[in-house]
Amino acid sequence: MINNLSEREKRVSFLKNLIKIYDYEYYMRNDSSATDAEYDKLFRELNRLEEQYPDLITDDSPTQKVGGWVAPGFQKYTHERSMLSLGNAISELEFKKFFDANPEEKYCAEPKLDGLAVSLLYENGVLVVAATRGDGSIGENVTSNIFTLKNVPKILEAKGIDKLEVRGEVIIPISDFLSLNEELISKGEKRLANPRNAAAGSLRQLDTKITASRPLAFYAYSIGNCEGRVLSDSHYERLMFLETLGFTVSKNTELLTGFENCLKYYKNIVLNRPNLPYEVDGVVFKVDSVERQEEVGYVSRAPKWAIAYKFPPQEAKTVLDSVEFQVGRTGAITPVAILKPVAVGGVIVSRATLHNEDEIMRLGLKIGDEVIILRAADVIPKVMSVSKRSDHSVSIKFPKVCPACFSAVERLEDEAITRCTGGLFCEAQLAESIKHFCSRKAMNIVGVGERIADQLVKQKLVSTPADIYSLSENELSQLDGMGDKKIKNTLDSIEKSKTTTFAKFLFSLGIREVGETTAKSLAKNYKDIKHLESSTIEELVEIKDIGGIVAAHIRNFFQQPDNLVVIDRLLSNGVTWPDEYKPSGGEGTQIFEGMAFVLTGTLSLMTREDAKESIENKGGKVTNSISSRTSYLVAGASAGSKLEKARNLDIEILSEDKFLEILKHKG
Ligand code: IVH
Repeated sequence: MINNLSEREKRVSFLKNLIKIYDYEYYMRNDSSATDAEYDKLFRELNRLEEQYPDLITDDSPTQKVGGWVAPGFQKYTHERSMLSLGNAISELEFKKFFDANPEEKYCAEPKLDGLAVSLLYENGVLVVAATRGDGSIGENVTSNIFTLKNVPKILEAKGIDKLEVRGEVIIPISDFLSLNEELISKGEKRLANPRNAAAGSLRQLDTKITASRPLAFYAYSIGNCEGRVLSDSHYERLMFLETLGFTVSKNTELLTGFENCLKYYKNIVLNRPNLPYEVDGVVFKVDSVERQEEVGYVSRAPKWAIAYKFPPQEAKTVLDSVEFQVGRTGAITPVAILKPVAVGGVIVSRATLHNEDEIMRLGLKIGDEVIILRAADVIPKVMSVSKRSDHSVSIKFPKVCPACFSAVERLEDEAITRCTGGLFCEAQLAESIKHFCSRKAMNIVGVGERIADQLVKQKLVSTPADIYSLSENELSQLDGMGDKKIKNTLDSIEKSKTTTFAKFLFSLGIREVGETTAKSLAKNYKDIKHLESSTIEELVEIKDIGGIVAAHIRNFFQQPDNLVVIDRLLSNGVTWPDEYKPSGGEGTQIFEGMAFVLTGTLSLMTREDAKESIENKGGKVTNSISSRTSYLVAGASAGSKLEKARNLDIEILSEDKFLEILKHKG
C-alpha cells in the first residue's frame, strides 16, 4: 500500500508509461516483452489506484482508452537541460587551437553523425519522452515515433536511476538508405535526397506507421540530466555505461591523449569514410573529464570543451564519357554517367547516377561535357553541374525500348521514372518477379524466397515464372540449401499452388501498382483473364479504386505480347482458380476494426490461414495469446488451455459456426 502522495503519483505515472510501451509492442510490433500475466497485473494495479484516487486519472491513461495505438500530433517539449550545438574547425590551424597545451589531456573522439539530434528521457527506468533538439531548449515531442526504433531501449535494466536523459543522433545507415530508396522508387514514390533528410523526414511523421517502416537507428553520444546515481567523471566511460544499458554507441568512439593522437584519428576517419556504415560529416573531440569540461566552460550555446572538425567537401571535376542505361530489379531504367576516372575524398570515381531523364534535362548535360561530381552518401556519386561545354559534346538519347529485354518502355504522366513493361519476361527483373510470384500472398510457393529465386535465375533454371511449374527434382537439387526434404516440400507446394484464386493469380503477375486490393477488384470485375487482357483504360478506370495511372500500368502490361505468352504458359501448366475457392472477405465493411482475435483448436470448415485472412480483411488482427486485450476467441475442436484462459478472463468465445455466420452476414 502506498500512502505517500508523491510516491503514489510516481507509481501511477510509472505504470501508465510501462503499459503504454507494452501496448505499443503489442499493437505495432505484434509481440510484447511482458507476459500476459505481467501485463494484466500492472493494468489491474493501475485500475485499482485510479479507482481509489480518481484525481490521478488522466485522459492519456491506458485505462481510459480502448486498446490500439494512436500517434498524437507533435507537442512542444521543454528539455530538462538545453541541447547544445558544437563549434566548428575547418582547417588544421583552427583545429589545433582547440587543444590544451597539456599533452596529457584526454579527449573522447567520436564521428559526427549526420542525422537529427534527439533527447530521450527515462524515469525510473522507463522511456517517458523523446524529443527533437528544436531550438535547443524546446523541441518536438516524438515519443511515439521513437518507440518504433528497434535499437532504442524502452526499459532500462538499471536500478536506482530516477531520471536519465540520453542524447544522441537518429540516423539511417547508408545501406538501409539505399534499400529504402529502391523500395520507394519501386512503389513509384519519390526518392529521398540523402540519409540525413531521410532520417529527419522519417522521424517527423505524424503517422507512426510510416516511421515504423523506416530503418531508423539511434546512436547515443552524451548524457544530459541524471538523478539517483553518480556517474563516472569520464565522458568516454559514460558512453560505455550507456552501451551496457543497451544503447548503440558508435564503434568508432575512442579515448585519446593529446593533439597528435586526435589528428591521427581524424585522418584515419577521413580515409575510412567510404567504409563507414553511416554518413559522417566530421569528427567531434570532447574534453573527456566532465569536471574539466565545466572548468573550460561555454560560449553562448556551444561548449568550449568540444569541437567538430568538419570534412572537406567531396567534389571533383571530370569529363562525361558516355551514358549507360541500367534496368533495375523492378524495371526502372536509370541513366548512369560513365566518367573519366577521378579521385574524390580518397576513392576513385568512374560512374555517377543521373537518376532519370528529367535530371539530364535539368543539368543540360551532353556527352563530352566537363562536369562537377559530388560524392554524397549515395555511395554512387552524382553529377552536380556542367562546368564546361566541349565543342564536340553530343546529346543524350533516352532509349525507347528496355536495354535488357527490348520490351517497350513506359513513362506515365507525372512520373519521373521510365520503366520497362516486360514484367514477366525481362531478365533484369526476373529474380524479383519470381520472388513476388512465389510469395505467400501471391501463389504461396513455400521455399522459394530471395535466395532460391536468385539461384534459379543465375543458374538459368527459369526464365519466366511459368518455368517454376516445370522444375524437376534434379534441377532443384543443384541449388544451395536444398536438401531432400526441402525439395519434396517445394515440389509439393508448387503442385498445390496450381489451385488458387483469380485475385491471387493477378496479384502474382507483379503488374505495377496492382497490390492485393486492386487485384481483388479486378478479379471481381472481370469474368476471366482473356477479358482483362483486352480491357481498355476507359473500362479500367470505371472500377472502384483504379485511377488513370494504375489503369495505364495494367493496360501496358497486357499489351506486351511476351507477358501474354507467359500467362498462357502458366494456364497450360495447370494454374487454375475454381470459383468456390475464395477466402471470404476483402470487400465489405471493416467490422472487426480494432479487434484482436485468437484462434485455437482445429477448424474444420476453413484453414487457419483463411480465417486469419478473413479477419484481417475486415480490419481485425490475429494474435497468439489470450490477454485482457483479446476481443474474441474462435475455438475449433479440441481447444485446450486458451479456452480456459478466455473463460477466466471473461472473453467472448465464438464457435467456428458462429464465426462463419458473422463473416457471412458481415456482423
Ligand atoms: S555532442 C555539447 N557528439 O552535431 C555538445 N553531437 O553541431 C552537444 N552530432 O546537435 C553535441 N554527432 O546533432 C555531439 N558525436 C556527437 C555528434 C553530435 C553528431 C550533432 C548533434 C548536434 C550537432 C551539433
